[in-house]
Amino acid sequence: NVLILDFGSQYTQLIARRVRELNIFCEIKPYNNLPGDLDGYKAVILSGSPFSTRSDDAPHPDLSRIKGHKPILAICYGAQYIAHFNGGNVAPSKTREYGRAKLAHVAQDPFLKDVPVGSQVWMSHSDTIQQLPDGAVLLASTHDVPNAAFKMPDERIYGIQFHPEVYHTTAGSLILRNFLVDIAGLEQTWTPAAFVETTVAELKEKIGTEKVILGLSGGVDSTVAAMLLHRAIGKHLHCIFVNNGLLRKNEFEEVLHQYKDMGLNIKGVDASARFLDALEGESDPEKKRKIIGRVFIEVFDDEAHLVEDAKWLGQGTIYPDVIESVSATGGPSATIKSHHNVGGLPDFMKLKVVEPLKMLFKDEVRRVGASLDIPAERLGRHPFPGPGLAIRILGDITREKVAILQEVDHIFINGLREWGLYDKIWQAGAMLLPVNSVGVMGDERTYEKCVALRAVESTDGMTADWVNLPYEFLQKTSNDIINKVPGVNRVVYDISSKPPATIEWE
Ligand code: XMP
Repeated sequence: NVLILDFGSQYTQLIARRVRELNIFCEIKPYNNLPGDLDGYKAVILSGSPFSTRSDDAPHPDLSRIKGHKPILAICYGAQYIAHFNGGNVAPSKTREYGRAKLAHVAQDPFLKDVPVGSQVWMSHSDTIQQLPDGAVLLASTHDVPNAAFKMPDERIYGIQFHPEVYHTTAGSLILRNFLVDIAGLEQTWTPAAFVETTVAELKEKIGTEKVILGLSGGVDSTVAAMLLHRAIGKHLHCIFVNNGLLRKNEFEEVLHQYKDMGLNIKGVDASARFLDALEGESDPEKKRKIIGRVFIEVFDDEAHLVEDAKWLGQGTIYPDVIESVSATGGPSATIKSHHNVGGLPDFMKLKVVEPLKMLFKDEVRRVGASLDIPAERLGRHPFPGPGLAIRILGDITREKVAILQEVDHIFINGLREWGLYDKIWQAGAMLLPVNSVGVMGDERTYEKCVALRAVESTDGMTADWVNLPYEFLQKTSNDIINKVPGVNRVVYDISSKPPATIEWE
């Protein structure tokens, strides 16, 4: 296991990605929150930082429990920090040191084994190490940065001014591998199958014969979390799958069936009427979300009470959720709590929480899922918002509107699958607009609803661009929708990127 101490660099998550890609497990901890027990860590990486080591408010953690005890790779700010406090000299650089540079000198050293002279590296710093720390040996230079890499052999510290974690540093992964495997002696054994094996063993140990309740959404994260728990504790895992009446057409029945085929102990709860009644007459997007969150908690709490003597709440929290909420109060469940503004916490939230995917990135969750034999169709599913079609029906929600939108969405999504487009798209769906427009069908004038189709490409949903779908596909889909869905006489395609638009319309 590798410890990455985060000094606030925008690239810290990337370091973790690169290390994991080498099949080596790692964890990120904030620099000011060093774990009490460091025994499990065989190496430490110090990240970059937006600060200057010379500034008073810069991170200046006490590294005495690490220095000399574990091999250290210090990147950018990390390297400057080591230099600054070990007799070196760090000063503002005179030339611009951002972007691409080439290694002009590379020493013969295991740390830089197979890294050629001329190799491209990526710089991003305004301070520079003018003088190396005491006892340091120079390992590499670029034209503008004489001290681009150094080592302090007595303490097994390696400092580099450039960023090995970014894609543009050609030999970046190689350098990380040299450090982690050859110098720190780590093994490259962290594979999805190994993760499944150790996690299942840990879950068995932790949970024993106690009961766990888990809410399944049909999404990738909760499904993979459920299958891991299922491997560990079998029928002691009680899954609950709630139909809020705002799912895609047939989704509730089909997904429930699939979960049963996977062997899960699952109960499907059709609470559609409860949700739709509660939403009646509400048009405000945020209020719709709050209502759905509240009713979900009520339904889930009712169901959780039916599982006698449950001790644990299973959750599909993944690593990015954990990182986003470290500074927030109550971790990932904080979001659920904000929905629940009446009468204190529901009972299920007082259970102990078990989150088997807490250390994984999204693509790792998919790889773990594949190694658990979860059907590819489930793992490749597009993201679908928790409030479902409620935030794709602009304005108030009625059962009739839900039925119309389900049909439209079904034609669109099925079409994408048939045309081989589904897996090339991050997310797609249809919106029911709150306008009627005039049309003509046969000799009749119509005055009916308009739907907007949306398909976007993205890597994380934070930014997105619309997909250039083939005109022939749009033509056929539009025809199918207008001919087959009564009440719709117009189809438009959304060509807005995010930002400035969002993926959903509400
Ligand atoms: P936006 O519309 O903000 O959406 O660009 C980004 C991603 O988040 C999903 N989304 C939600 N997911 N509850 C959810 O669980 C919500 O209230 C919600 N709103 C948006 C959206 O589908 C997209 O994947």
